[in-house]
Amino acid sequence: MAVLQAVLILATVSRILAADTKFTGTGSTGLYWDCCKPSCSWTEKGPWLTHPVQTCKKDDSPLSDFTVGSACGQGGTAFVCNNQQPWAVNDTFSYGFTSTFIPGASEFDWCCSCYELIFLNGGLQGKRMIVQASNTGYDDPTRTIFGVGAPGEKDFANGCMNRYGSDGGGFLGNEGRPLTKRTDCESLPKPLQQGCFWRFDWFLDAYKPNMTFQRVKCPKALTDVTGCIRNDEDKFNASASTNAASTPYGESFSLLVTSLALAAFALAFNI
Ligand SMILES: *[C@@H]1O[C@H](CO)[C@@H](O)[C@H](O)[C@H]1NC(C)=O
Ligand SMILES: *[C@@H]1O[C@H](CO)[C@@H](O)[C@H](O)[C@H]1NC(C)=O
Ligand SMILES: *[C@@H]1O[C@H](CO)[C@@H](O)[C@H](O)[C@H]1NC(C)=O
Repeated sequence: MAVLQAVLILATVSRILAADTKFTGTGSTGLYWDCCKPSCSWTEKGPWLTHPVQTCKKDDSPLSDFTVGSACGQGGTAFVCNNQQPWAVNDTFSYGFTSTFIPGASEFDWCCSCYELIFLNGGLQGKRMIVQASNTGYDDPTRTIFGVGAPGEKDFANGCMNRYGSDGGGFLGNEGRPLTKRTDCESLPKPLQQGCFWRFDWFLDAYKPNMTFQRVKCPKALTDVTGCIRNDEDKFNASASTNAASTPYGESFSLLVTSLALAAFALAFNI
């Protein structure tokens, strides 16, 4: 009896812990910008109430048909919308959109979810971002990585060259000429410069800084840009940092304590 009970309790505890890692934990970040249609812009990627992440035509006007293919390699005409670049609210807080990967979770969990990131290093220690997961990153499926969409990275630039018909002064699609200083942003196509400046001004050109992440209720500032609102938003509070016990983690923690207490009781009385 005690064994059966212990197994049941262990199963409950591991289920709780497994569920939590979808919402909170630590991970690393990075920067990317490929001009492509984001992965969360397809209809089947999440439980949203409104519509998938907004995509745009080549001229950056909104595209209402979410079945249109990506302009990156699939012969489609859908690009990322340029207003999905990060912006600073003040010196310690920014908004942005990310290419997300959380091991043990799926796009159905993260597409259009918002997360509060608190940076741990890379000169950014203590700075915060609230981001909406608009895309998915498959670079390393063993680790939690939130790639912030900010123009100026040199990888996967075919979509940008397709869109702007230029190599952005050599920084797009040119592995040999990494973008290293703020004034280099002036070589990018005009619509891509704002997020590039953010990289140097707010993000301090940090290289893959680590962070803690916690799911929060999406702020209107972000959902106004993507138009994407999930149907499970009310389970989350607006800011995790001001109220640590306000997310499902708090609820799970008390379940965990209860389970452990039950286990101790069962062991003590050998039931
Ligand atoms: C920066 O903005 C955030 C979000 O509005 C706010 O919570 C924070 O207090 C602000 N910080 C400063 C230093 O103004
Ligand atoms: C982030 O964490 C990983 C794993 O702990 C570590 O290898 C890496 O150096 C850290 N990154 C920074 C910028 O400190
Ligand atoms: C949000 O935080 C408040 C204040 O702590 C708490 O009472 C409430 O249950 C939280 N809401 C959700 C949906 O978690």
